[in-house]
Amino acid sequence: MDRQWMSQIAARHGIDWESVVPLSRQQRLELLERCLTRTDVPFPIDPRFGKPYLEAAKQGVPFAVGSLCDDTVDLGEYRNEQHYDRYTPEEHLSWAVLVAEQQKTKHQYACREYLAGEDTFEIGGAVIPDYYLLNARIYQQTGWQLATVNMIIPAELFFTCHSQRFFPVTTFMRALEQDYLQEPDIGHDVAGHVSTFTIPVVAHVMQNHGVARNLIYEERAAELEKETDENRRSKIMRRADELLLYAERIYWFTVEFGLVLQNGETRAFGAGILSSPGETIFSIDSPIPNRILIDPSQDKDLLRLATTDYLISEYQKTYFVTERFDLLETLTPERIVATAKTASRLPHFSWRDIVPGDRVLHVGQTAVSTNEKYFRLMADVRCDDCLTRTAIRNLRWFHRRSSDGSELSQTWYGPVASVPERVLQWYAQHQSDSELQVPLRPLSEPAGG
Ligand SMILES: [Fe+2]
Repeated sequence: MDRQWMSQIAARHGIDWESVVPLSRQQRLELLERCLTRTDVPFPIDPRFGKPYLEAAKQGVPFAVGSLCDDTVDLGEYRNEQHYDRYTPEEHLSWAVLVAEQQKTKHQYACREYLAGEDTFEIGGAVIPDYYLLNARIYQQTGWQLATVNMIIPAELFFTCHSQRFFPVTTFMRALEQDYLQEPDIGHDVAGHVSTFTIPVVAHVMQNHGVARNLIYEERAAELEKETDENRRSKIMRRADELLLYAERIYWFTVEFGLVLQNGETRAFGAGILSSPGETIFSIDSPIPNRILIDPSQDKDLLRLATTDYLISEYQKTYFVTERFDLLETLTPERIVATAKTASRLPHFSWRDIVPGDRVLHVGQTAVSTNEKYFRLMADVRCDDCLTRTAIRNLRWFHRRSSDGSELSQTWYGPVASVPERVLQWYAQHQSDSELQVPLRPLSEPAGG
């Protein structure tokens, strides 16, 4: 791209084009050497690991997976490397634009800890961070490390990394001035996620999600070992996929798109929000989405997250606002798994639903009542994939359900645990229609590397 054109873009975002220049390799190595010997940090680096780490950087070995402790992770075909010197001026400028736009919003919209995180990890500069340095800083503060991946990785690998305190990061940078993208890039992974690692409970919850997945995999493996019938084995696999999906929703609505109350104000801590300056404002100020207050220590609220479907192709239309960060400490691996199992036995909600019992801070302009999705389906008035998918899943569930209605009537699910009889009759006649045979949304890491 023409340098004059890039300088105009820089000026448009208040960036000094002359500042968008990465440090030389020698300067980066000097910084790394000083960083690795710090002892005033929660996780000082053992020279046994620090020396070969520095040596690899000096020899020009591209960064791939953090190696500052005994733990490691096998990324297989998804392993990637950061070739820092190959980033173009345009890619560095894209980072600078993102950071500059974040600066305009984050002081008003981001949680306090996120603001501190930028300084802790020194990621507020005008150029893409060097992963050797960034990985060392993250490890020293949190015990987590980076693992470089080449694309959106399977959820199973993503959360295996989490369980071992490795955070998968991509190496490509979004196009210049692109605000929102479905795929994670350096902007999402680093400018979004990394700063939130300074919130100990968030890092802890991320690891717990990894451990929760391991519990589901272990249960699946134990069941498969006892089963030889192919049909029943497929059923076991589908059941595990379902549980993984419901657990993933808890992650999505907190780690990725969570809001939190701080001093009576709604602030963002989700990486998916904070890596998009546009969504940062939208999530808190826009009249379009629902905002619902939750206490994650309450099973009912956790279940609300696990039973809420979402779309990844645009800004969220429901945000959940955690009352306080410390309430997230209750998200143990066992509780995440138990919630996912309960969610598999209940009707679900779309991202437009407002449910009786919700502590609603704001009713979004796109909100619908819980029964509207069924009537839309009957009338073939499609609204979005999420609404349709949820309606079909629930009708299938209601159609099959026979015995647990009385149990549901005792819970907050009672008011939504039924649909009008004529809807069920319609479904009974149309259930074999091919358009009603929607599968579960495929599992993939939602918007984070
Ligand atoms: Fe993410």
